[in-house]
Amino acid sequence: MASDWDACFQDWERCDKKSVWWFRKRNNRFGGLFSINYKLCRPLKYEIMALHEIVRRVTTHVLHEMKLKGEKIAMLTAYDYSMARILDEAGIDIILVGDSASNVMAGHDTTLPITLEQMINHAGSVVRAVSRALIVVDLPFGTYQGNSKEALTSSIRIMKETGAHAVKMEGGQEIQESVVRILSAGIPVMGHLGLTPQSIHKFGTYVVRAREEKEAEKLVEDAHILEEAGCFGLVLEKIPASLGKKVAKELKIPVIGIGAGPDVDGQVLVLHDMLGITQEFSPRFLRRYHNLHAEIKGAVQNYIQDVRTLQFPDDKEQY
Ligand code: KIV
Repeated sequence: MASDWDACFQDWERCDKKSVWWFRKRNNRFGGLFSINYKLCRPLKYEIMALHEIVRRVTTHVLHEMKLKGEKIAMLTAYDYSMARILDEAGIDIILVGDSASNVMAGHDTTLPITLEQMINHAGSVVRAVSRALIVVDLPFGTYQGNSKEALTSSIRIMKETGAHAVKMEGGQEIQESVVRILSAGIPVMGHLGLTPQSIHKFGTYVVRAREEKEAEKLVEDAHILEEAGCFGLVLEKIPASLGKKVAKELKIPVIGIGAGPDVDGQVLVLHDMLGITQEFSPRFLRRYHNLHAEIKGAVQNYIQDVRTLQFPDDKEQY
């Protein structure tokens, strides 16, 4: 399907009246962010930068446009002010305040123990750091599965007490009613299918999901249900790449993969894993961009050594 953007660019190249109308309309929706020389009438495709380079604030609408333009979406988790600030400065599109905080911040074996209060605390810290990225917060286990009213109450608490922009929930058809109800309160919802860590005790293992045809069919069906219910995006975790590609192709909403192959609309990783702070978790899909564990440990060992040998503080590091 040709995107609105493509139509806009083609029209510009013909430089007719309709093209001016198109460009103005699109540009207004982005707060007039595109530079344009109306007199010369030459705001051609090549002068217009990628969306992620231009937008001052990533919204669900921007993400949708990115999918239409074929621009990949970059998403990472963050749970605290300092890290979130670095991610936002670096230009990340989506920050997920994931319930993986239960593992990497609190040291639990699963995501199940983290509470709504703890998630609100993490999310509030992230929101205070961020001026550009879209912030999505996981609804923790036990705060939405009961019924759609519970799901709405938990979502409202997150939005009201943190200032985040959206919530994420695990599950397909079983959360359909909750998605609709949360959306009716004006809260954007992101879905999560494939490996769903909150159901670990049901599955008993973290192996790749939906390899079997029946499970794959159910996943595709659930993905469509979530899109129709109104989700603005979908996370697919640890599934065959071919299935990730199929879902991303069939859905109009952006599909973000974690171990779902390259042919989805964007990628997400847990920050502590990709920075190499955690060491014990090494699934095939994880690319480590750093070995911060070793770097931090080395820095701390140097500090201990300096303190013990009276090298710190020196003459310039005192009053
Ligand atoms: O909690 C989390 O970090 C997540 C990602 C794995 C997508 O849900």
